[in-house]
Amino acid sequence: SDTELGQFEHYMLKEIFEQPTSIENAFRGRLDDDEATARFGGLNLDPQELRRIDRIVLTACGTSWHAGLVGEYIIEEFARIPVEVEYASELRYRNPPMSERTMVFAITQSGETADTLAAMRECKRKGHPTLAICNVVGSSIAREADGGIYLHAGPEVGVASTKAFTSQVTVLTLLALFMGRIRHLSYPAGQRMIANLRKMPDKIRQTLECHNRVKEIARKYYTAENFLYLGRLHNFPVALEGALKLKEISYIHAEGYPAAEMKHGPIALVDEQTPSVFVVPRCQIYPKVISNMEEVRARRGPIIAIACEGDDKVAELADDVIYVPDVDEYLQPMVTSVPLQLLAYEIALLRGCNVDRPRNLAKSVTVE
Ligand code: AGP
Repeated sequence: SDTELGQFEHYMLKEIFEQPTSIENAFRGRLDDDEATARFGGLNLDPQELRRIDRIVLTACGTSWHAGLVGEYIIEEFARIPVEVEYASELRYRNPPMSERTMVFAITQSGETADTLAAMRECKRKGHPTLAICNVVGSSIAREADGGIYLHAGPEVGVASTKAFTSQVTVLTLLALFMGRIRHLSYPAGQRMIANLRKMPDKIRQTLECHNRVKEIARKYYTAENFLYLGRLHNFPVALEGALKLKEISYIHAEGYPAAEMKHGPIALVDEQTPSVFVVPRCQIYPKVISNMEEVRARRGPIIAIACEGDDKVAELADDVIYVPDVDEYLQPMVTSVPLQLLAYEIALLRGCNVDRPRNLAKSVTVE
C-alpha cells in the first residue's frame, strides 16, 4: 500500500523517490492541450470573477511557505498578477490592506496546520475568495476553503516534507498557466509550458540518479556544524528549503540566503569549516551567481554546487558538484530541490538521526 516502506529504509527516502510519480499526479487530467491551459475542478470561481483578481496572497508555514515563494515568481512572470507570500502565523494577527479583488490561497500538505487554518479563516471573514492547495483530502483546511486544488501526492509520512513540496510547486505552476491564459499569456507560450511540465517526471527520474554522488558528498561534509545554502531568483526559495531540510533532520545549523545578500552579513560566517551549497543551474544571471561563488572561494569556504550537466565552469570553482538536468528556469526548483533533500537525508543518517521522526517536530502542527 501507499504507506508501506517496501524497498526503502525510511519514509523520507521513499517519498523522495516517489517524486516522478507524485509530480505527474499533480498535473494529470489538468492539462488542456486544445486551449493551452490548465483546468481545475475545484476552484469554484467563475471566469469573470477570476479575471477581476488583481492580487494573490499565498499563505503557509515551513516548507509549504517555501513552495509559495517559488509560486510567487512563476505567477508574477506568467500571469502578471502581484503576489504576496505571507507566513500564516503572522498573517493571522496582522491586518494588511487587501482589496476586494485579492484571492487567497492557503498552501498546506496536511490541511491541519493551526496557523494556516487561522490565517485562512481571517481572510474568509473579510470576504476574500479563499482557496486551498492541499494534499490531505477532507482535512480541516480543505473543508473550510471556498474551493481548492488537491496535490494527489499520496500520504506523506516523513516529518520532513519532500514530495508535497514539489507537488505544491507543480500546482502553483499550473495556477500560473491558468491565470496567465485568462489574461496575458499567448497560446504558444501556454503550449510550451504544457510540454515542459509533461517532461518533468522524466527529468526528476534523471535527477534521482545523483543519489550515489550525494552519498559521497555527505560522507565528506557530515561533521560540519554550519552550512550556508545560496541561490538566486527561482533558486532562492530552493536554498531556503535545502537549509530547512538539513536543520530539521540532522540538527546542523544551516542558513538559506539569496546568494548576493551574503555580502551584507552572512559572508562573515564563511571559513574552512563552513560549507556553502550553491544552487547554480544555468539561468539569466548565472554569471552573477558564479561571482558570488568566487567570493566564497576567496575566503576558503568549501563549495558544494548543484549545477547543470556539462557545466565545467562550476566544476572548476566548486569542491564538489552534483549535476542535474537542464530545464527551463521556472521549472528548476522542482529539479534542484531533489539533491538537497537527498543531501539532508544522507547527512542525517550519517549523524545517526531519526530521519522520519526528528526531535521536537510533529508532522502537522495543530497547535498555535
Ligand atoms: C517541513 O519539512 C516541515 N516539517 C514543516 O515546515 C511543514 O512544512 C509545515 O509545518 C507546514 O505543514 P503543512 O504543509 O502540513 O501545513
